Amino acid sequence: MVNNYLQTIISDHQLINDRINLMSKSKKNKNSQQTISSKLQSFLDEADRIKKQLRQETLNRDELEQKYLGKKGLFTRLSAKITDIPKTDKPQAGKVLNHLKEDITAYIEKLSGDKSQLGLDGNSIDLTLPGKKPQMGHLHPITQAINEITDIFQKIGFVRVRYPEVDWDWYAFGSLNMPQDHPARDEWETFFVDESAHSKKGKMVLTPHTSNGQVREMERVGEPPIRMINIARCYRRQQDVTHTQMFHQFEGLVIDKDINIQHLKGTIDHFAKEFYGPSAKSRIRPFHFKFTEPSFEVDFSCHICEGKGVITDPNDPKRTTTCRFCKSGWHEVGGAGMVHPNVLKAGGIDPNEYTGFAFGWGIERSYTLKEGLNIDDIRLLYSAQMEFLQQF
Ligand code: FA5
Repeated sequence: MVNNYLQTIISDHQLINDRINLMSKSKKNKNSQQTISSKLQSFLDEADRIKKQLRQETLNRDELEQKYLGKKGLFTRLSAKITDIPKTDKPQAGKVLNHLKEDITAYIEKLSGDKSQLGLDGNSIDLTLPGKKPQMGHLHPITQAINEITDIFQKIGFVRVRYPEVDWDWYAFGSLNMPQDHPARDEWETFFVDESAHSKKGKMVLTPHTSNGQVREMERVGEPPIRMINIARCYRRQQDVTHTQMFHQFEGLVIDKDINIQHLKGTIDHFAKEFYGPSAKSRIRPFHFKFTEPSFEVDFSCHICEGKGVITDPNDPKRTTTCRFCKSGWHEVGGAGMVHPNVLKAGGIDPNEYTGFAFGWGIERSYTLKEGLNIDDIRLLYSAQMEFLQQF
């Protein structure tokens, strides 16, 4: 726009020059036949001076109008001098005046129009100029992962719930087949809250896992079927490259008639392909949890070595090296198993009529295994480093 403006001014300038030159030429031509009067000559010179002076001005529109076209303006004073011009030269002087007035008016119009577009007059802005883009934020990568996980399970009929992150000992341990002082509790490295204990449900804890939602969901729904996905924060006394004191888990719970391990494995496979891509594989390994029987640990195949545990040299297919990301071809993300009959009973469900499966996986762990992320220290997710977070 500024360029357009300059071009217009330049062409205007040339226009006036051409006109004055034309007049000078006609003056010379006529000179060869007849000499122009000195009065017309000084009239033309004056017109030329006014034109040049106008281009130097830094005044605003009103001031220019006043200075050039006002009652005592330069143009007005020049036009008054036409009375002194000899009669034979008057038509020529009249033309010069007409052109000069047109040029002054056009110049002022253009100048003030462009200044207002540029916002230089302080009263207006140019809506066509590119604006300043406000800085856009985005959801934290873990919130993005939570939304994606919720979506995957909701599509296959799971109901998203969120149970307390500060809960009674009963829901976090007792109802999950871990009575007081049972050694299995030692694994959870729990933070107890300094609150008076409930007469039946015991002390308050910062939940070390989302499994506290299992019996709560059974109490909420009453009669199965149950298809729950409980996503919440968890707390443990741990801190290293793969552990944080606060982290998230997502807990699945399905209870109905004739639910078996195939349903569990099918659900795990479905999640792996939706979350990691169609080539992702899952496996379950025997493990022990007090609240599931049988119990498993769940692994997903490594996207770097595609579950092989080794990387083949592209230049020499016989040469392989151990995959540095997984070392074995697989990544463990959490636990799973068939809901223990004692847990069903704690939730008021008859284990002779219903069976179910449950799983609980870390969101940070699951997310950092996604292809292309290469996050080798999950503490970075909570470091509040903008340079790191802005990448997601
Ligand atoms: C449990 O928490 C069980 N409640 C899982 C479960 C649910 C088993 C239902 C059976 C049925 P575990 O302690 O292994 O399991 O933790 C599961 C996952 O949570 C871990 O594999 C890891 O992905 C994540 N996790 C655990 N502790 C941390 C931590 N401090 N920081 C980040 N992620 C963690």
